[in-house]
Amino acid sequence: MGEQATGTRYALVTGGSSGIGLETARGLTAHVDVVGIVGRDPERLAQAAEDLSSGGARIETFQADFASLAEVRRLAEDIKARFDSLSILVNNAGVWHTQRTLSKDGYEATLAVNHLAHFLLTNELEDLLVAAAPARVINVSSSMHGRPKSIHWDDLMFEKHWAGFWVYGHSKLANVLFSNELARRWKDLGITSNALNPGNVRSRITRNNWFLNALHRSPVARTIILTEAEGARTSIYVATSPELEGVTGGYFHKAKLAKPNSATEDAEAGRHLWEVSQQLVDEAAKPWTGGSRHVPATFPRGFAQGSRLGLPPGPLSMRPLPFIALGALALGVIIALLFG
Ligand SMILES: NC(=O)c1ccc[n+]([C@@H]2O[C@H](COP(=O)([O-])OP(=O)(O)OC[C@H]3O[C@@H](n4cnc5c(N)ncnc54)[C@H](OP(=O)(O)O)[C@@H]3O)[C@@H](O)[C@H]2O)c1
Repeated sequence: MGEQATGTRYALVTGGSSGIGLETARGLTAHVDVVGIVGRDPERLAQAAEDLSSGGARIETFQADFASLAEVRRLAEDIKARFDSLSILVNNAGVWHTQRTLSKDGYEATLAVNHLAHFLLTNELEDLLVAAAPARVINVSSSMHGRPKSIHWDDLMFEKHWAGFWVYGHSKLANVLFSNELARRWKDLGITSNALNPGNVRSRITRNNWFLNALHRSPVARTIILTEAEGARTSIYVATSPELEGVTGGYFHKAKLAKPNSATEDAEAGRHLWEVSQQLVDEAAKPWTGGSRHVPATFPRGFAQGSRLGLPPGPLSMRPLPFIALGALALGVIIALLFG
């Protein structure tokens, strides 16, 4: 990537203590002087730092739970105290819940961790990124961003209907809309913003879902599902490739420019998501008594289109039997193929 005038070059990877993030951090050690990894578990962070210590960069660890926006603010202060600038920010941390869970701020936790925490962190680190310009922000999304047809404006916290993979896909759509809006807003600051799909990777992301977990670890799946190191390839490419100098607002898969869901091209939705996200992070800074947080955002008429999300009637999470039956059937077929 383009050279800064002088000085130490810093990169930061969220969710850097495990999975694709750890492998991304490993890849970045060959490109910058200092790699910061953010994780929530001190032991995993220490292990990861030890693991990465043989690379060419100094490793700095930062502890924060993205289910708390106050922790994200504190994290940003910690980073600013230790880094003079930031050439590469990889927004990689992500979670897939199997039950509706609230963040410490009372927001639906998938949206809070996967989108709101990164929205806040990136904005808090703007000065560091500007100081390193040309700098790159990389937003790790997923092919699942293509499931929802739009942001679920009229029930952003999925209080009426909740289903793990829809809500996860929705947060991944928010990642791409945010990435594109960031590209538009910061285009004159020398900061690029791109989103990507790492591919189908065997990692801990499926740990809460016994079926996907078993599928990911089955011998057949092992031959087609990527390793974490293979999954990190696109992140490392987008973060460091010289040919992507100045390229912004892109979506990448298999280390190539790819076509995202057309919903991500809706600039008005991107602008609106930015404003709503700002309201939500501001609201989280106010005193609160617990429970589900009131969502203060008022949405223009054209955005009250939650039904366009394409959710089946009724919450899937409350009707698990068909999925268990399908899962058992698929597992049976796999076992029959393997041992039959
Ligand atoms: N695996 C796939 O097939 C796949 C496909 C498409 C997209 N992705 C995306 O790739 C990214 C990395 O996922 P992965 O597959 O590497 O999964 P993973 O192994 O579960 O890694 C996710 C990372 O996010 C961190 N994280 C989760 N919740 C957090 C929280 N509340 N606060 C701080 N950190 C938190 C995890 O920390 P801990 O170590 O503490 O759990 C972990 O380091 C995610 O954004 C995911 O959506 C993955």
